Amino acid sequence: MSLTLASPFLLAPMAGISTAGMRAICLEQGAGCASTGLVDAQGLARRSPGSLRRAHRGEGQGPQILQLFAPDVDTLVPALAMADELGFQGVELNLGCPAGPIVERGCGSALLGQWQILKPMLSALAGCGMPAGVKCRCGRRTGDRDFVLLHELAGEAGLDWFSLHPRSLEGAYREAVDWSLVELLPAGGPRLWAGGDLRSAAEARAALAGQPRLEAVVLGRAAISSPWIFGACLRRPDLDAAARARLLSRMLRAMACDLDLEEGKRILPGLATLLGIPPMADIQLRLADRRRMGEWEAILRERLDLDALPALDENPFLR
Ligand SMILES: Cc1cc2nc3c(=O)[nH]c(=O)nc-3n(C[C@H](O)[C@H](O)[C@H](O)COP(=O)(O)O)c2cc1C
Repeated sequence: MSLTLASPFLLAPMAGISTAGMRAICLEQGAGCASTGLVDAQGLARRSPGSLRRAHRGEGQGPQILQLFAPDVDTLVPALAMADELGFQGVELNLGCPAGPIVERGCGSALLGQWQILKPMLSALAGCGMPAGVKCRCGRRTGDRDFVLLHELAGEAGLDWFSLHPRSLEGAYREAVDWSLVELLPAGGPRLWAGGDLRSAAEARAALAGQPRLEAVVLGRAAISSPWIFGACLRRPDLDAAARARLLSRMLRAMACDLDLEEGKRILPGLATLLGIPPMADIQLRLADRRRMGEWEAILRERLDLDALPALDENPFLR
């Protein structure tokens, strides 16, 4: 089964960031597909409110992928069965997350190299009745090549895509992305997507043009500060400053509505930092008080000069 992409520039899965609202906006801007952040397969199967919220598809027009994490096939299968019902067009298994709470549960990057556990998971993905793929880094340490074997296994299982963040886990975001790793993957097998450190439309187009094996490139952090990047990748006319400000404020507002209070307190300050709105402590302090959440708007106005920022009265933080 094959996922139809609307363009070769895809929104990366980003926990707490690529929410339904952000995905809708990036799709509208020209993203070829948009992924949820990683969702706990076990929580989803139990229909826990947090997992259901993270797996909410929303109104976004275009292909959307539900990304799951699970420690084994038995945990994965019930959640796979829900992806279609939730309205997604594809489902992806996360094999790259290095975060402690995920790895300690034997999920995400902890599964790299655990081939006996992984093989039945890949088969279940391929047989789940909708397009499916995996996303990973190249391995634990710089120079590790686990992704080559994983790519082979993904092909044998019949997965539709293989999405690579071409650097090691220990390299975090410090190590340079190594685009030449893509060339280690043989032709045939799953469709190939890759991304990392693509900061502009020109870089995204160049990465795609420079790697004939790549069907699409994946954009993460650049889409947070510049959701219009997808339009720019497609050479659509530039948005002027006022239109950009309106888009950014609409996106932040949608994201704040998609998160619950605890997530909001955890994520929005980091988001502010990514948008270049320091200092974090200052914002964290303000966000810690629900009644003062309205100040978020003032902070954005002050620091980002977003004249067109809509009122935040419908924001769940204010309720
Ligand atoms: C805040 C944040 C959250 C992320 N969450 C996920 C995730 O849930 N699943 C995943 O596969 N990758 C996740 N990633 C990794 C991105 O999908 C992407 O591979 C990585 O950031 C490199 O792309 P970039 O340099 O364009 O951001 C996350 C990255 C960021 C910055």
